[in-house]
Amino acid sequence: MPETVTVIERLRAAGCVFAEDEARLLEKAASTPEELDALVDKRVSGLPLEQVVGWAEFCDLRIAVEPGVFVPRRRSEFLVRTAIALTTAAAPVIVDLCCGTGALGLAVATAFPAARLHAADVDAAAVRCARRNILPAGGRVYQGDLFAPLPAELRKTVAAAICNAPYVPTGEVPFLPPEARDHEPRVALDGGPDGLAVLRRVAAEAPRWLAPRGLLLVETSERQAPLMADAMARAGLSPHLHSDDDLGASVVVGTCRS
Ligand SMILES: C[S@@+](CC[C@H](N)C(=O)[O-])C[C@H]1O[C@@H](n2cnc3c(N)ncnc32)[C@H](O)[C@@H]1O
Repeated sequence: MPETVTVIERLRAAGCVFAEDEARLLEKAASTPEELDALVDKRVSGLPLEQVVGWAEFCDLRIAVEPGVFVPRRRSEFLVRTAIALTTAAAPVIVDLCCGTGALGLAVATAFPAARLHAADVDAAAVRCARRNILPAGGRVYQGDLFAPLPAELRKTVAAAICNAPYVPTGEVPFLPPEARDHEPRVALDGGPDGLAVLRRVAAEAPRWLAPRGLLLVETSERQAPLMADAMARAGLSPHLHSDDDLGASVVVGTCRS
């Protein structure tokens, strides 16, 4: 189809490695040639594909993704798998902090039919997007800083708090791929001087919210994982490191002792 060839050529010229696959997705998302043109324009200008088509596949779920909201990464499927494997409660309270689209919390909650899911993010665009994904599944989404917007009655009840917070060290943000640097908000990327500024605060507050034997699960880089484990231990959690070489993913799990 000549139109497809043109789309593929335009995507290739813009440096899209999977131009054929992307062309197929863009064509599916457009209902007219004009709309297709507009979508291709957005993509070649550097917008992440998921923000252009409006969705991402994550843990076999179709997740709505809006412009200006962090695109859930494949690597974070390991955080989801670890949370599902380690959660023993039949009707767990699950909290997704720094939830972005809410993909991670939704994926964990989907594995527990009786789960109660609460998600929160500081950014209004993320909260709007997470509500589209999470409210239809019966979960709740709040706006605010880390645990602060959660209802007080959740204290000491959380079976699994998952958190993929910003963890890129400030000095490395300029070296991120342009798709992230230019189209995902700074608040979703910048984790402070060593990348762990937000996650240290999460660890410090977690014991007030976790049930006895409840878990805090966070994603870090491989280099940051031992530092994060120290931060968890200082907060009174028992830390364990988990990693997946195929996905290049590191997850630090802290268990609440009391
Ligand atoms: C790396 S993105 C991850 C989003 C989502 N967890 C995911 O993996 O797709 C980090 C998210 O943390 C949010 N965030 C940053 N600082 C926060 C804070 N202090 N309180 C709550 N959310 C915060 C950002 O708005 C962003 O949505």
